Amino acid sequence: MKSLCHLFDRAASILQPASLTILLLLMYHVAAFASGGIMPQDYPNAGLINNGRWIFFNETFNGNGRTCGSCHREDNNFTIDPKSIASLPDDDPLFVAEREGDNPLAENFEKPELMHKLGLILENTNGFDDLEHNYTMRSVPHLLAMRTSLTPPSDAANDGTDTPPDERTGWSGDGAPTDLSANPELRGRLRDFTVGAIRQHFTKTLNREAGVDFRMPTEYELDALEAFMLSLGRQQEFDDFHLIRMKDERADAGRRNYLGENVAGALNCNACHFNGGANTDPNFDFPPGVTPAAFEMSNRSFAPRVEELIDQPGDILAGGQLPFDDGFGHGSNLFNAPTVIEAADTAPFFHSNQVDTVEAMVAFYATQRHLRNGEVLPPIVGLNGSQVANIGAFLRVLNADENARSAIDLIQRARKLDDMSDRRTNLYLARTEIQDALEVLNGANLHFADAAPLFKKARKLIKRGRLKKAIKKLEQARDAMIDRSGV
Ligand code: HEC
Ligand code: HEC
Repeated sequence: MKSLCHLFDRAASILQPASLTILLLLMYHVAAFASGGIMPQDYPNAGLINNGRWIFFNETFNGNGRTCGSCHREDNNFTIDPKSIASLPDDDPLFVAEREGDNPLAENFEKPELMHKLGLILENTNGFDDLEHNYTMRSVPHLLAMRTSLTPPSDAANDGTDTPPDERTGWSGDGAPTDLSANPELRGRLRDFTVGAIRQHFTKTLNREAGVDFRMPTEYELDALEAFMLSLGRQQEFDDFHLIRMKDERADAGRRNYLGENVAGALNCNACHFNGGANTDPNFDFPPGVTPAAFEMSNRSFAPRVEELIDQPGDILAGGQLPFDDGFGHGSNLFNAPTVIEAADTAPFFHSNQVDTVEAMVAFYATQRHLRNGEVLPPIVGLNGSQVANIGAFLRVLNADENARSAIDLIQRARKLDDMSDRRTNLYLARTEIQDALEVLNGANLHFADAAPLFKKARKLIKRGRLKKAIKKLEQARDAMIDRSGV
């Protein structure tokens, strides 16, 4: 601060009043956003992204104390789950509904038992008219790779959803709760999601009055948050699954099963999650009744009806409390395909955290679906038990590879930063990625003799500040898992 004041004195003596105001504004800006940020300046849009990150984790919008980071935690892949929730102190703003005394959020804001046992957050996806009856309980999605997963289907590929929303966000692809007719400028884009998230999660009372219970974000804040969220995770489609080879034989069999080889029935995983992403396979001829065979890559919605299974955790752990979820719009059953590569370290899976483990998630697709209403639907993908495990292994290795890519990125960013605390943040996040890779591989005893030891070495090297060497080990770990020579 001393040197800043000194600078200011000197500037004041040199500058005219007008330029002085500009300088003052500049200094305010710098002070408000503390350090430069963890994105190095040569990255496109670095300034906006860094400010967006600051807003995401610090700005409460004059609300109940929560920030975006209350639910989308940076060191937990931008999500929360029952285990991470259990590690928070009782006074964490996530738990505003549980505060003692005269609490306007005590009823119909959250369902604390469902939050603690299942990691679920209350969402008024159909609007705020009937808070007591009209709500759903959803898990927190990870926010990674959104740059690849927002494009709605064209008219020719109409899957039963409408536009707006112009971009596909949220589990049902219809964005955050906002009254589009009252706010014609909101088009259900990622940038607009912030407005609905504040109204839903940040409010001080259930009146949800802007200017009283929270403040609306500025245009700049919307831009910065959008830029930050788009910078997270994978920035492009993964390599062609037909051209890569997994070095673990079971994972490679899983790759072929994922693509539909030796699989019964008309559908395969790749049809809806092309190359492990969230878009449809442009070469896949969808059978009638699933989605139009429009041969395009778009982020479409389907009705797997996972929310209607009997005996799902929500029924077992919190009997009768998990409400029906009607998906896109009103009563559609439609949910938006999420990415698969990012999945393995963000369990539990599906929109109400219905499944805890990778293999059980794959088994959902391969087994009969006994629904609450008595209907029994056939499996979505015809896999046998071995193939369920193969695809599980495939998804685990893909996820470990993505963790390594991300860790390398974070270390490279750290190397470009002068600010020690920003540098440390990137290196800490790189270590959490490595930890995730190790857990995901260990969960099915994969690559214990090659990639796993390399990940551990990389982690040690980061601690000792040997960053170039750490990157080398991570690159070796990727090579030990996936053969990309055919790409
Ligand atoms: C109380 C927890 C909570 C807070 C706080 C919160 N979110 Fe979320 N977020 C969720 C949940 C739950 C969903 C899933 C919503 C749905 O499917 O309807 C979600 C979904 C999202 C999505 C959609 C992601 C995707 O993959 O489609 C975005 C974007 C997002 N949040 C951004 C934000 C921003 C920006 C803020 C801060 C202004 C914020 N969230 C604050 C719980 C939260
Ligand atoms: C007909 C299209 C379709 C097919 C085929 C399909 N999925 Fe999905 N997938 C979806 C939809 C839609 C969702 C969202 C479901 C929900 O939460 O309601 C989803 C969710 C997922 C998720 C959850 C991600 C998360 O973050 O929780 C994973 C992982 C996944 N699918 C993997 C697979 C695998 C593996 C296969 C093949 C065995 C497969 N999917 C086949 C459409 C499909």
